[in-house]
Amino acid sequence: MNNHSDALVFFGATGDLAYKKIFPALQSMARHGHLSVPVIGVARAGWNLEQFRARARDSLESHGGIDKVAFDKLSELLRYVDGDYNDPATFTALRKELGEAQHPAHYLAIPPSMFAVVVKQLCESGCAKGARVIIEKPFGRTLETAQELNRTLLTCFDESSIFRIDHFLGKGPVQNLLYFRFANSFLEPIWNSHYVSSVQITMAENFGVQGRGAFYEEAGCIRDVVQNHLLQILANVAMEPPAGVDAESIRDEKVKVLKAMVPLDAKHVVRGQFVGYRQEAGVNAHSHVETYAALKLEIHSWRWQGVPFYIRAGKCMPVTCTEVMAEFRRPPAVWTTKRPPRNQLRFRIQPDIVIGLEATTKTPGEEMVGESIELLATHRPHGDEMDAYERLLGDAMKGDSTQFAREDYVEAAWRVVEPVLGDATPIHFYEPESWGPPEADRLIAPAHWKEPVMPANP
Ligand code: BG6
Repeated sequence: MNNHSDALVFFGATGDLAYKKIFPALQSMARHGHLSVPVIGVARAGWNLEQFRARARDSLESHGGIDKVAFDKLSELLRYVDGDYNDPATFTALRKELGEAQHPAHYLAIPPSMFAVVVKQLCESGCAKGARVIIEKPFGRTLETAQELNRTLLTCFDESSIFRIDHFLGKGPVQNLLYFRFANSFLEPIWNSHYVSSVQITMAENFGVQGRGAFYEEAGCIRDVVQNHLLQILANVAMEPPAGVDAESIRDEKVKVLKAMVPLDAKHVVRGQFVGYRQEAGVNAHSHVETYAALKLEIHSWRWQGVPFYIRAGKCMPVTCTEVMAEFRRPPAVWTTKRPPRNQLRFRIQPDIVIGLEATTKTPGEEMVGESIELLATHRPHGDEMDAYERLLGDAMKGDSTQFAREDYVEAAWRVVEPVLGDATPIHFYEPESWGPPEADRLIAPAHWKEPVMPANP
């Protein structure tokens, strides 16, 4: 199906995600001239359209601010259907509100337990005809539940009409990882096990669970950000050049990376929990859920055999920063007495955007000794850049699935993490504002984790 979606329906319209992310993305789409179709919110709040518009205004006042012209345009496009997702009358009303629309995009920003109900109702009411469906992570909790979810979606939609949002894929610097790799001829010849000795991916957040204790108890760090966001980043770092620029060629290569990974072994995982997590609202007082995870992964491919890929993610870390650091093998010390340090290539994804190449240059003076310097390309995102949700909603409505997780990818990612989910490994405690439990150092020894160095004024 190549048609542009002619309506956007979003379920969960009164929820948190809509409030924090979707209204700002919609206003921005309107500002950039990328939104001109009806936007129909669906929820069970007992609201009318005016209350729904007020919610949109309130959301924008707290998240990014109102842009009068764009907001007026968005307001004009808003529609609202109130009702229970279990009640067929809600979907009859939705079908009526869709009017002439032939290719609506249904965005399910709702708890996964409601996916099956809504999909069934969309199907039975005729709202799914010619439509696309956009769903939010988590895509299942295990391989089996992910397969079940996929079966549910496929009862009503083709794979080409299903858009699984991983918002990290909508981030410009995550896309640039791929672009930079394949648009620069100097990198490709050394981007392999002959030159790269290890890769580290760090996702640190300097805040806790922010009132999402109950959600986090069900998820934990591995399900929340490793199985999806961080494996997606890893796939961009490690994949082979695609055969073409079309969505399937790119997604084929990503799946291959995951298929070449050995499912995680307990001895390659350290789970941590910050001290104080058990006192959060919605958290079990004896919880063993991890708020930190460090993992060592191996990719058994011609390119990466023998190169460890380390992933580390955690809440209540000293800083908020996501970055990839590749370390190169040491050059032979043939004309200097001191072994030169290893080169490193750093891709910072957030909060600022950096590509940094750490190289060694001679220090001024008579001796042939060197020091490390970093060649830097930096970019501070400015206010009017597209954010991840804006980009992804726009892509889904155009029918471009390049930046969405395909069914086989999701399943392959669960295969990698499944052996270490839940209590498969012990939980270690760490102090807030530390870099996690000391056990994680043993995972990487004799090497060390690279702590992101933050700019003085981020
Ligand atoms: C979400 C996780 O998917 O991603 C959160 O549920 C996490 O726990 C968030 O904080 C990070 O996203 P971003 O874009 O704010 O870095």
